[in-house]
Amino acid sequence: MSEQSTAPAPAAGVPRHPDDGFATDPLGVLEEGHRRHGPVFRMPLDGVETVLVGTWAGSGELFAVERGRLEVLNTALVHDLFGRALFNLTADGHGEARRLLRPALSGRALAGYVPSLLEVIGPVAGRWAQHGTADLHGQVRELTGAMSARVLLGIAPGEADAADFAAAFEKFVSATGAPPGPARFTDRRYWAGRSARQDLHTVFARRAAQAAGDAPGGSALPGLVAAFADAPAEAGPLEDHLLALLIAARETTASLLTWCLVELAGNGEHARLAAAEARAVSADPALLVGRGALPVLRSVLAESLRLHSPNLLSMREAVCPLTLGGHRIEAGTRVAYSPSAGHFDPATFPRPYSFRPGRFLAGQASASRLWAFGGGAHACLGRPLAELMALAVMACVLQRGLPRLPDGPPSRISFRPAKAPIDPLPFALDQEPVS
Ligand code: HEM
Repeated sequence: MSEQSTAPAPAAGVPRHPDDGFATDPLGVLEEGHRRHGPVFRMPLDGVETVLVGTWAGSGELFAVERGRLEVLNTALVHDLFGRALFNLTADGHGEARRLLRPALSGRALAGYVPSLLEVIGPVAGRWAQHGTADLHGQVRELTGAMSARVLLGIAPGEADAADFAAAFEKFVSATGAPPGPARFTDRRYWAGRSARQDLHTVFARRAAQAAGDAPGGSALPGLVAAFADAPAEAGPLEDHLLALLIAARETTASLLTWCLVELAGNGEHARLAAAEARAVSADPALLVGRGALPVLRSVLAESLRLHSPNLLSMREAVCPLTLGGHRIEAGTRVAYSPSAGHFDPATFPRPYSFRPGRFLAGQASASRLWAFGGGAHACLGRPLAELMALAVMACVLQRGLPRLPDGPPSRISFRPAKAPIDPLPFALDQEPVS
């Protein structure tokens, strides 16, 4: 469905909140809206009247009722570029595609990806230890792209396909910035993106053929190829899903990693505790996928996800009338939930604006109270892989030194497509004598 088809229908009984200041402080505006009106209120969002859902209880209610009533609101541009990718599918096709994709992205499959991830991360972390970097987020985005290419497609850095893949992928990503409606047809990025999509499908087909034969191990591709070999057409083609996974992985995981490292740079005591765990990982990399292992590194992940949720908003459209927070929402209404609205509730997270990973260690807070990976029908399918990639990067980095931000923390932040520093952020690793 396209944004053009969504004439905003009234959600008349829902309290209205002004959108003043949303461009510069979106989380502050959402927090204030929920403080005043509770889990559900409405507000103009990018010029369209939208019902905002948040708080722990509000998001939980949305996830419980969404199936068959709310659909992911994707623009015509997203449909053109991503075809029948997971987030463009509905009903049975969507459920079937998730069922087929999940085993390669979670559970026992993860242990097989650890050596290839460490191979990709090692040289990058080594360069940071030696020379630092002038642009942490830019470097982390590149690294996330390389990790995803290795794990999802079996493409190692330096291979012939690596450069072709990276160039086509960048063109494809640029196309997602084209206008969402009919104006996309007059935008050069759109046509370049359509042609990049074809090039990427060619790379995927080549890698899939190799995956059936002598491709390097440590990749999800052979499992995915096998899962989709006899898949029903309604589950969509694997090529479309691969592109969606690569896109869904990149900005989000890069954002999480950037904020983990930024916060560790400001919290030397916790960074030292985490570095001790990181050294244990170099002796036993299986700890990265061990149940209950690495509590300190995991507390850093949880607290960064709480304080710096990568995604600001996820969009839905009501496809039939429904009730949220006691308010009737008509079909056609645009609905959005914020994964992080609820992460700053002082009753659940005391001193909510401070980075205190210890709250997850001491059992004062539970990571199950976080919605950073969404929930319900479209909950993040890549969560276990995202957490593995983030733990692996943090471990490799902390083995080599303690993070430092020579120019201090970022002062200007953008929130979309994922929360990230706007300006280049210098980053260094200080070597400490091992105690
Ligand atoms: C820190 C990293 C990540 C965060 C915070 C994150 C967050 C999210 C959120 C909030 C959603 C729900 C969107 C919605 O409700 O519309 C989502 C969906 C999704 N994510 Fe992630 N994600 C991350 C990493 C990944 C990775 C690494 C992958 C793949 C390898 C991935 C694949 C997906 C897919 C395929 C969906 C769509 C699921 C569906 O529509 O059924 N994500 N993610």
